[in-house]
Amino acid sequence: MPEAERMAHLTPEGGRWSGQRIGITGARGALGGALCRVLRQRGAEVIGLTHSPPPSLTDNGPNQWIVWQCGHEEQLEATLTELDILVINHGINPQGDLDPDTVDRALEINALSSWRLLRLFESIATRRGAEQPSEVWVNTSEAEIQPALSPVYELSKRLIGQLISLRGTQRGAVERERLRIRKLVLGPFRSDLNPIGLMTAGFVAQQVIFQAGLDLNLIIVTPNPLTYLLMPMHELARRLYSAMLSRRDR
Ligand SMILES: NC(=O)c1ccc[n+]([C@@H]2O[C@H](COP(=O)([O-])OP(=O)(O)OC[C@H]3O[C@@H](n4cnc5c(N)ncnc54)[C@H](OP(=O)(O)O)[C@@H]3O)[C@@H](O)[C@H]2O)c1
Repeated sequence: MPEAERMAHLTPEGGRWSGQRIGITGARGALGGALCRVLRQRGAEVIGLTHSPPPSLTDNGPNQWIVWQCGHEEQLEATLTELDILVINHGINPQGDLDPDTVDRALEINALSSWRLLRLFESIATRRGAEQPSEVWVNTSEAEIQPALSPVYELSKRLIGQLISLRGTQRGAVERERLRIRKLVLGPFRSDLNPIGLMTAGFVAQQVIFQAGLDLNLIIVTPNPLTYLLMPMHELARRLYSAMLSRRDR
């Protein structure tokens, strides 16, 4: 949203999220729903992107529902063009299911569809130019670097996590100005995906918004102190490694 228009949308309380158009995938899930609630309370206009039949609109949910399917990300182009921020949050956890079809499904949903959405939003941000900067938040997991008692989940989350780190290395200053990429690295919270998580989705959503408000690109919310130490080190090591091997002549 251009700056003048954004100012016109500000609620009397003002605030960073006020008037922002924010799309969230997996919006019917625990964290997706909690993020919708918190962001609406802060004055954002939330578009819930769901792969299931949308429920009726409420004051706590998105202002609008859009139905989409993994594998058909390009059909979201018109919707994404309207957004200031895209939160890629959908995911599945196959637990101990190691069947090859399950591996395909987890890679497709958790990693490849997220990657395609990121690329699509990047191309939109490039067309918009610097006057209308956008953000994309990608919800990976601390399973990116820690065991999550679910090998296929870990594999798919490591893939998307590494793809995001790689993209971070390759992008130049102009691209970074047009599209900011933030990574959400979350510990266990209760949801259909993880019924025994320690934290609540509401607490995690509040923390995510708080840290985003502090301008952090690497947002970590977990009870595990090791993740706060290891994740930034992993991120730095990946970036240095990719930067060292990146060929500029292509
Ligand atoms: N719970 C945890 O402990 C934990 C920890 C770290 C990271 N995370 C990550 O946080 C995100 C949200 O998870 P959650 O715990 O809130 O789980 P959840 O309640 O199960 O929500 C996940 C949502 O993903 C969407 N989804 C599922 N299958 C899909 C498909 N085939 N295509 C498109 N969307 C699909 C669904 O939302 P719609 O029906 O609206 O499409 C579903 O409600 C996930 O990426 C997860 O990996 C979770």
